Amino acid sequence: MNDKICVITGANSGIGKVTARELAKQGAHVVMLCRNEEKAERAKEGILRVCGHSRVDIVLADLSSTQQIRSAAERINADCSKIDVLINNAGLITSNTRTTTDDGFETTFGVNHLAPFLLTQLLLDKVLASKQGNIINVSSEAHRFASFDLSDLQYEKRKYNGLKAYCSSKLCNILFTRELSQRLPAHVVTNSLHPGAVASNFGGGVPGFFGIVMQLARPFMISEEKGAETSIYLATSEEGFTATGQYFKDKKVVSPNKEASNNYNAKRLWEISEQLLQITFLPQKKAASA
Ligand SMILES: NC(=O)c1ccc[n+]([C@@H]2O[C@H](COP(=O)([O-])OP(=O)(O)OC[C@H]3O[C@@H](n4cnc5c(N)ncnc54)[C@H](OP(=O)(O)O)[C@@H]3O)[C@@H](O)[C@H]2O)c1
Repeated sequence: MNDKICVITGANSGIGKVTARELAKQGAHVVMLCRNEEKAERAKEGILRVCGHSRVDIVLADLSSTQQIRSAAERINADCSKIDVLINNAGLITSNTRTTTDDGFETTFGVNHLAPFLLTQLLLDKVLASKQGNIINVSSEAHRFASFDLSDLQYEKRKYNGLKAYCSSKLCNILFTRELSQRLPAHVVTNSLHPGAVASNFGGGVPGFFGIVMQLARPFMISEEKGAETSIYLATSEEGFTATGQYFKDKKVVSPNKEASNNYNAKRLWEISEQLLQITFLPQKKAASA
C-alpha cells in the first residue's frame, strides 16, 4: 500500500480506527476524516506509534453539516494528488426522538447516507485520478430489517424509530453502491460490506432499549480488529480492486435483501439524493447501441 492514499471517515474510533491503523501499517498515506479534534489526535498518535511512517493526516468535519463536508473535501482535494481508497465508514444510530441536521435532513439519513453520497461526489475527481480507484461503503446486515419507503426516507410521515431509521440508512448504503458501480468508469470500483456485530462504541450512548441491548450484547460481539477485516480486505486485496457493486460479509460476496438488489430503488434513491443536496452527480451511462 506504499504509494496509496486512503481517506477514511470515522477513523478515530472502532472499525474505522483499526482500518486506518492497519492500512497505515501497510504503508498507506491515511487521511482520517473525523468530527472531534481531540479524539482524532489521540487516534492519530496511536497509529503513528505503530505504523513506521508519518503519512497520517486529520481533516475535521461533522458529517451532519454539508458545509463542513464541503470544506473538508476542499482541503483533501487541495492536499491530495489522488485518492486510491475512499472508505465511507462513519455512521451513527439515534434514539427514538427524530432530530435533524443543520441542513434540515433527518439525522440518521443525513449522516449515514447523504454525507457519503456528497463526500464521494466532491472527492470523485481525485478517485478518478488514481490508476485503480476504490470506494468502500460500510453498511450492515441491519438493512434486512428496514421498512424501506422511498416516499418517506426521512421519517416525516411515519412514527420515528431510531433503529428503523438506521436499518433504512444502511440499505441506502447498499443501493448507493449498486448505482455508483454502474455509473463509474471501469478503473474505479465500489463495494459495500457488513463488518459483523462489533464491540465498538457504536450505539453505546443511545438511551433506551437499543443502548441497553448493545451494552448487554458486548461480551458476545467480535473485536474491532475482527470487525475491520472486511474493510481492510476490500482496500488491499485483488478482489477488492476488481469486484464492483457487490455486498461483502466475512470477506465474501453475499446477496443483500430484495429491496437492496432493486435497480429502480437504486436509481430513485440517487435522484432523490441529488435533489436534496442540490447537486448533479455522475450521469447514468448510456446503454450501448445494438
Ligand atoms: N458496531 C457494529 O456492530 C456495526 C455493525 C454493522 C455496521 N456497523 C457500521 O460500522 C461503521 C463504524 O461503526 P463502529 O462500530 O466503528 O462505531 P463507532 O466506534 O461508534 O465509530 C463510528 C465513527 O463514526 C463517527 N461519526 C458518527 N457520526 C459522525 C458525524 N456526524 N460526523 C463525523 N463522524 C461521525 C464517530 O465519530 P465520534 O467518535 O466523534 O462519535 C466514529 O468515529 C458504521 O457505519 C456502522 O453503521 C457497525
